[in-house]
Amino acid sequence: MIMGGETKWVLKSQPFSSSISLILIALLLSSFANLVVSKDTNSSSTEKFSPPANFLIDCGSKQQSRLDDGRIFKSDRESSSLLATSEDVQVSVDTISNSTIVPPSLSPSSLPLFRSARVFLEESTYTFYIPKSGRIWVRLYFFPLPRQSYNLTDAVFCVHTDQIVLLHDFSVSNNTAFVFKEYLVNVAGNRFSLKFKPKKKSSAFVNAIEVVSAPDPLISDAATSVSPAGEYTGLSSSALQVYYRVNVGGPGINPDNDTLSRTWESDKKYNAFPDGSQNVSVTPNSIKFPDGGATAVIAPNWIYSTAEQMKDPLTMEPNFNLSWVLNVEESYSYLIRLHFCDIVSKSLNELYFNVYINGMIGVSSLDLSTQTKGLATAFYKDFVLNASAITNSSIMVQVGPANLQQGTKNAILNGLEVMKMSNIANSLDGFVNVEGKPIRPSERAKVMKIIAAIGLAMAVTAMLLLATVCIRWQKRPEGWENRKSFSSWLLPLHANHSSFLSSKSSSRKSSVFGSRKSKSGYSSLYSSAGLGRFFTFNELQNATNFFDEKAIIGVGGFGKVYIGTLEDGTKVAIKRGNPGSEQGINEFRTEIDMLSKLRHRHLVSLMGFCDEQSEMILVYEYMANGPLRDHLYGSNLASLSWKQRLEICIGSARGLHYLHTGAAQSIIHRDVKTTNILLDENFVAKVSDFGLSKAVPENTHVSTAVKGSFGYLDPEYFRSQQLTEKSDVYSFGVVLIEVLCARTVISPTLPREQVNLAEWAMQNHRKGTLGKIIDPRIASSINPGSLKKIVEAAEKCLADHGGDRPGMGDVLWNLEYALQLQEAASQIDHPEDKSTNFIPLDHPNEDDHKIGDSSVTYSSDKSEVTDLFSQIAKLQGR
Ligand SMILES: *[C@@H]1O[C@H](CO)[C@@H](O)[C@H](O)[C@H]1NC(C)=O
Ligand SMILES: *[C@@H]1O[C@H](CO)[C@@H](O)[C@H](O)[C@H]1NC(C)=O
Ligand SMILES: *[C@@H]1O[C@H](CO)[C@@H](O)[C@H](O)[C@H]1NC(C)=O
Repeated sequence: MIMGGETKWVLKSQPFSSSISLILIALLLSSFANLVVSKDTNSSSTEKFSPPANFLIDCGSKQQSRLDDGRIFKSDRESSSLLATSEDVQVSVDTISNSTIVPPSLSPSSLPLFRSARVFLEESTYTFYIPKSGRIWVRLYFFPLPRQSYNLTDAVFCVHTDQIVLLHDFSVSNNTAFVFKEYLVNVAGNRFSLKFKPKKKSSAFVNAIEVVSAPDPLISDAATSVSPAGEYTGLSSSALQVYYRVNVGGPGINPDNDTLSRTWESDKKYNAFPDGSQNVSVTPNSIKFPDGGATAVIAPNWIYSTAEQMKDPLTMEPNFNLSWVLNVEESYSYLIRLHFCDIVSKSLNELYFNVYINGMIGVSSLDLSTQTKGLATAFYKDFVLNASAITNSSIMVQVGPANLQQGTKNAILNGLEVMKMSNIANSLDGFVNVEGKPIRPSERAKVMKIIAAIGLAMAVTAMLLLATVCIRWQKRPEGWENRKSFSSWLLPLHANHSSFLSSKSSSRKSSVFGSRKSKSGYSSLYSSAGLGRFFTFNELQNATNFFDEKAIIGVGGFGKVYIGTLEDGTKVAIKRGNPGSEQGINEFRTEIDMLSKLRHRHLVSLMGFCDEQSEMILVYEYMANGPLRDHLYGSNLASLSWKQRLEICIGSARGLHYLHTGAAQSIIHRDVKTTNILLDENFVAKVSDFGLSKAVPENTHVSTAVKGSFGYLDPEYFRSQQLTEKSDVYSFGVVLIEVLCARTVISPTLPREQVNLAEWAMQNHRKGTLGKIIDPRIASSINPGSLKKIVEAAEKCLADHGGDRPGMGDVLWNLEYALQLQEAASQIDHPEDKSTNFIPLDHPNEDDHKIGDSSVTYSSDKSEVTDLFSQIAKLQGR
C-alpha cells in the first residue's frame, strides 16, 4: 500500500513533474535549437551585425536624413551633446549640381549627406561613448559647399583621434567632386574622440560623420607578409584607412546589401587585362560560409558569388596572369585582403593557382578545395605589403595557373580590399604625430647614418654621371644638339634590342636623325627617310580643336585616336600616345619602323609624326568607314553584301601577303583581327596597327612572349611561343569565319561549345550544318560554290599545325576564286546582265600593279583563275 501510495503519489505527481521536465527539456531543446539556428544564421548570408556603437550624424542639417539604404543620420541638434566647440557655424544648400563627381568608393545613396556641413573656426571635438572596446569604423564626408560666407575650398585642417592622425593639412580645393574617407581605428576605453583642428586663420568643416563599431573578427592580428616572405603579426595595433573595396567580376554593392554598410565597387577600372578575363557568377544564396573561416561579416555572399576567371580556360592552353592594378600612396605599408570562392570548378581539387602581389609570390599553388573542403565556399586571405615593396605608386594583384600537371589551367579572384596601415608617427597622412611633432625613422644615429649614406650615394652618382657625360661627349654623333624626346626613343633603348632600327648601321641612323639642323629642314629630311612629314604640335592642336574629346574616334592601350583636319582640308587620324608609357614607346617605335618601310594600297599609311613637347603622335591617312567589325555586327551600320565582304577579305589578304613576302624581311603582323582592318570611303580594306609586328628572317621563326587578341590567337603559337607567318594565317582564318557569321569570335555567355566562333563554325562545317550559323542577312545571296571555297580556305587557315596551313598567297587565290564564282552566279541570277561580258576585264590584281608594287607576285595564280573561270563560263553556256 505504501508502495502503492508512493506509486500513487508518484503517479499523481507525475503529470506535474513530467510537465516541468518536459518544459525544461523543451527549453533546453529550444535553446539548443536556437544555438544551432544562430550558428546556422552565423554562417549564412542573412547574418545581421548590430553594432554596439552606431553614431550617424548629418552635420549642419536641421533635420534627420533617411538614406535610401535605410540608414538614418541624426540632425545637428540631436547630436549637439557630442560636440565641444567654441565657435562653429552650420551651413547648407538646397541642391548640389548633379554633375558633381561621385567617387566609386561612395554609395550614391549617401549623396543627400553632402547638402549641409558644419564649419569649425576653432579646434572642436566630437566625443562618443563606445560600449565595447575594439575596432570602429570612422567614415567622413567632405564637400566644400559653394556660396557660403566661408570659402570652404580654402579651409585647411587636421583630423585626429586621441592617438591617430587621420588627415594632416587637409583641404578640398576641388568643388566638383565629393570626398569620402573611411578608417578602421582601435578604441581602448569607452571614449572615442574626433578632433577637427583648423590651421591658423583657416577653418575646418565636415558634412557627415559615422562612428560605428566593427565586429572583432573582421581584422585579425596576423597576415602573410609578402616582402620579406613570412608571417606578419601586430595588425591589431595599426589604424587602417580603406583604399579600395572591390567586387571582382560583379557589380558595385551598396551598403544595404552588406551588413556592415560597406560599399563595394566593380573591378572594371582596375582590371589590367580585361581581354584575358571573363566574369562568372552564381546565385548569391548558393554561397556557403565554412566553420571557422570567412563569414558574411568578412564579405557578403554577393562578393563571393561573382569572380573573374581566365577566358576560355578549356579550349586554349592559357599561360598568363589575370592582373589588377590599384594606385596607392608610397611610403606606407598596406593590408591587402583577397576573397576567393571556387564557383568555376565542377569537382573538388581541380583548381590550383598562384597569387602574386607586386610581382612577388603571395601563395603558391593555392588549392581552395583543401582550404574550404567544398565548392562555392567562401575563403579569404590577408597579406601585408611592406612600404619598401611599393614602387610606381601602385599595387598589382595577379592570379595565374600553377605550373602543375593536374587540374585545369585557370585562376580566379572574387574580391579585393586594400587598406593603408598607419606609420611610425601613428599617422595615415604624413609623418607628423597628433602632437604636431615630425617623426622620422628612429633615433639620431640612424638619421646620421642615412645622411652619410645619401651623401656618399650622391657623390658616387655625381662621379658616374660626370664619367658618362664625358664618354658620351666623346662619342657624340653628328647633329646631337638637335636630338630630342621622340627621336631618342626612336633610337634603340637597349643596346642589344634587336629592333629594326638598331639592326641598321649607325651611319644610316645618323643620316635619319643626326642631321636635323633646323625646323624648316625637318619635313624633307624625314620624308626622305620614309618617316613621312614632321607635324608641329601646334598644327595638330589646330587640326583636332585642341584634342577635343569630341574628336576621339578610338581609344587603345597606347592612348587615343582623334580625327583631325589639316589646314589644306585633308582629313587625318591622329594617334596620340600616353606619355611615359614604356610599352607605348616600344609599340610606337615598332609602328614607325614598320610603316616607314612599307607602302601598299592595302596597308594604312603613315603621313607623319610629331615629337614636340615630349609628345608621341603619329598621323595616318583617315579611313572614313572605320573598322570592318563595325560593319559586321554591334553597330547600326548597313550590312555589307557578300561580294563586298569578299572584296574586303581579298584586300586585307593582299596587305598581309605583302607583309609576309613583299619587304626585304618577312613581317608578321601578330594582331590580325576585324578591328585592325580599316575601310576607306570606297570600302577598300587596309590593314592597320603594326604595334605588335615583328620582322623575321625568311623561313624562320622568332620566340617571343605571346601577344595578340583572344579568339584570334594561333593555338600553336600559344603552345610553343614560336612565331611564324602562319600565325597571321590562323588569325585571318578566324576573320573569314567572323565575316561569314557576323558575330564576336569569343562569346562567353553562349553554351560551352559555341563560345569560340572558329571552333563552333568548324564543328558545324564537319556536321554539314554550317548554313545555320551564317549571317542571315546574306545567307540566301551566297553562291554555294563561293561559300564552299571560302569555308575550305578558312578550314585550312585554322589547321592546328602551322605547317598544314597555306601561305597568304594561296589564301588570296582561293578568295579571288570565290569572288569570281560569286560574280558568275549573280550574272546567272540576273539574265538581263547576260549581254555584258561577265568575265571581269578589270582584274582586281591590277590595283597592286598600278601602285608599282613589284614585290607582290601571283601572276601564275591569276592565269589559273582565268582558266578556271573560262571553264565556268563554258558550263554556264551549256
Ligand atoms: C560580364 O561580362 C560581360 C561580357 O563580357 C559584360 O557585358 C558584363 O558587363 C560583365 N559584367 C560585369 C558585372 O562586369
Ligand atoms: C541587393 O539586395 C536585394 C535584396 O535584398 C537584391 O534584390 C538586389 O539585387 C541586391 N543588389 C545588389 C547589387 O546586390
Ligand atoms: C605571372 O606574374 C608573375 C609575377 O608578376 C610572373 O613572375 C609570372 O611569370 C607571370 N606568369 C605568366 C605566365 O606570365
